[in-house]
Amino acid sequence: MLHVLDHPLAAHVITHLRDKTTKPATFRTLAYQISLLLAIEATRNLAVEDKLIETPLEPMHGRVLAHSPLVVVPILRAGLGMVQPFLDIFPDVSVGYIGLERDHATAVARSYYCKLPPLAGNTVFLVDPMLATGGSAAQALTVAKENGATAPRLVCIVASPTGVAEIERHHPGTEIYVAALDRELNARKYILPGLGDFGDRLYGT
Ligand code: URA
Repeated sequence: MLHVLDHPLAAHVITHLRDKTTKPATFRTLAYQISLLLAIEATRNLAVEDKLIETPLEPMHGRVLAHSPLVVVPILRAGLGMVQPFLDIFPDVSVGYIGLERDHATAVARSYYCKLPPLAGNTVFLVDPMLATGGSAAQALTVAKENGATAPRLVCIVASPTGVAEIERHHPGTEIYVAALDRELNARKYILPGLGDFGDRLYGT
């Protein structure tokens, strides 16, 4: 199931992310902002429970997050640029890492690193800014499931129709959250119009 952010601030931020004149420092700030909006959207249905508190004026029943630890798993390296908002807004979150490298000639993902906290019973978010061919994300979803995740969610900034279809083919029913669904992939498997190489733009490489 695909969820595309629909918010004026998201449109504003994604446009500046796409702009090739945006410098790495600004790009990192914008990546934080769009990831924060995505984190809020992707956690819309987290369980809450009643909590009796007292305001300075009277007692009331408020609602707080039910105990449901979150796990955020960036796909290295570009996914690192999406982690901080999850750490900043959620009280109980741990971080795992999956390292997948795209072979530039074949565009096939190769795993070179995997370190995960317990996933079973936890709400798991895989974060990967660019859902291009979908190969890395599909592989990361498989790894997460092999390690106990029941319904890992995928959070991306820009997706291609090919990438979304690939996830739906290999992992039907996956909740996918994106800020933009773009037109297509080019011959080198970059997203069009896209924003270029996210990792390079994030780290100035
Ligand atoms: N990875 C990127 O960083 N950009 C793309 O367009 C596709 C994959």
